[in-house]
Parts: sequence; structure tokens; C-alpha cells
Amino acid sequence: MNHFLDIHKTDKAELRSIIDSAKAMKSARQGRPKAAPDDEQPLAGRMVALIFEKPSTRTRVSFDVGVRQLGGQSMVLSGNEMQLGHGETIADTARVLSRYVDLIMIRTFDESVLDEMSEYASVPVINGLTDRSHPCQIMADIQTFEEHRGPIAGKKVVWCGDGNNVCTSFLHAAGQFGFDLTFSGPVQLDPEMESVGWARNEGRTITIERDAIKAVEGADLIVTDTWVSMHDAQSSRERRHNMLRPYQVNARLMEAAKPDAVFMHCLPAHREEEVTSEVMDGPNSVIWDEAENRLHAQKAIMRWCLDV
Ligand code: CP
Ligand code: NVA
Repeated sequence: MNHFLDIHKTDKAELRSIIDSAKAMKSARQGRPKAAPDDEQPLAGRMVALIFEKPSTRTRVSFDVGVRQLGGQSMVLSGNEMQLGHGETIADTARVLSRYVDLIMIRTFDESVLDEMSEYASVPVINGLTDRSHPCQIMADIQTFEEHRGPIAGKKVVWCGDGNNVCTSFLHAAGQFGFDLTFSGPVQLDPEMESVGWARNEGRTITIERDAIKAVEGADLIVTDTWVSMHDAQSSRERRHNMLRPYQVNARLMEAAKPDAVFMHCLPAHREEEVTSEVMDGPNSVIWDEAENRLHAQKAIMRWCLDV
């Protein structure tokens, strides 16, 4: 069963084939209206369930549009409106949904929900973000970097800010796509050490540098994300902002990187918090391509899951 649960749980060659397929599908439909079908309709007759236990704009819309372009049908389900949110077990939900749909995408809180869903579903399951990781995002990010700067292997990526779920998926990608990663943030918000260790075991150089200006020296790609994720308590907001302020991505920081360093953010962004508008809207920012590529990367992920 081709579940797409995490970057480090998916074979390297298969990850590469997914990126190649995303690039090919994107170029094949340049200039077409958004709802125009792709030439190939591999999801014809297939139904996809998109379950959200957290808010979403990009993941929700890009999966929904992607399914339609591939000829399939989708239904968006809100976790708290399902029996799932009212005591039915994940395992039982997985068994039932597998009788109605061909593919399940779920955005949830604890990773254990995703794991249980994939264990008991008899159809493939895709991770649409958990508290721990966001693999679909990073597939779109790799595609985007490579469109702008060529192969990401051997490059230096710098993560500034909170060592959160998106950062963890970047660590997994470092191991799988062969780039080095420097984390720059406060010690209290260090990335998950298990994933740091995993990437190091794959032969990658993973560095922790508390000084953001030093961290970005020689950087090919600078990435940040919100200072307060959906799973973080709102009561921690002020404390987190105070710790993270020195790691804001601004013009001064970008000037300390390579002149052609790319800036990425998975979005939604908080302007003038983790990143300034000057950088977000500046010449090195590729954030809108990054958002668009969610569509293409996820279409390739769905095709890989269903082997179509
Ligand atoms: N980047 C991302 O996953 O955005 P949404 O939360 O809007 O889906
Ligand atoms: N780290 C963020 C990513 C949102 C797409 C969150 O989990 O809220």
C-alpha cells in the first residue's frame, strides 16, 4: 500500500519520481483554465476524502482542484462534524471510509491518528499535516527550489525560527534529497532531535547556529514559518514572539546570505512577524510559486499512491 505518510518513510527514488511527475504535469497544462481537465484522467471514477481536523486554505483547495483536474471526485470533511470527533475510533473510521473512497488525505493533530488511519485503512492515506510533519508542503518546496535554481542536492538550506512540523519535514528532505540544513532559532524551540539524528545518519550536515546572521552565510535557501503553529497554545504567543524576534527574516538577514538565495514560507505568513513584507514581496521570494506547486506536487503524490 502506497501511503504517503512522511518524507523519510518514502523511498528516495520514488520521491524523485514524484517531483519529476509534478514538474511534467505542471508544464503540460500551462495556460489552461484552472478547472480544465488534464490530458490524462488517471483519477476517473475515483473518490478522494479530504479530512480536516485543523483549518486550511492551501491544502484544502489544492487537493480539491488537483483531484478534479485528474478526473476524480473529492469530498471535504471537517473532523469535528464527523463521528470521528465524537468518539468513533480512528480504526473504525478508517475501515468504513475505505468502503466508500479510494484515497484518504487527513490533516490532524497527533501523528498517532495518521498512523492508526493508515494501519486500518485498506486504501492509501496521505499526511496533510500533523503536529509533527508536513510532507506534502516540502515536496512542493523541493519542486519550487529546483524550478528556480536547479538541483537541490548539495545546497545549503537555513531554517530560521521555530523548529516545528515544517522544519521536521525539511530535515527529512535533507536526508532524502541530499542537502545540508542549518537550524537557527532559540534553544527552547530546537527541532526534534530524532529527525536531526536521522538526517545526520543519512550523511547530511545538520548544524545548529544561534546567531541568525552567521547561520545564513552561504545559504542557497532561507525558510521560515509562523511563530505560533495551529497546535501551539495561544497562551504561549507572547513568550514565543519574544524568543523568536531575533530570527525574523528581514532585508538585513537576506543580505548576509548568497545574493541569489531564495526565500520560502509555506504560508500563511504573518507579515512583520517571522518575515517582513520587504522580503516576502522582494525579488528573492518564491512564495507564490511555492503555494501553486502544492497543487502539482499533490497531484503527483495522489497518482503515486494509487499507482495510476
Ligand atoms: N501551507 C499550508 O499547508 O497552508 P494551509 O494551512 O492553508 O493548508
Ligand atoms: N507550522 C504551521 C504550518 C501551517 C501550514 C502549523 O502547523 O500551523
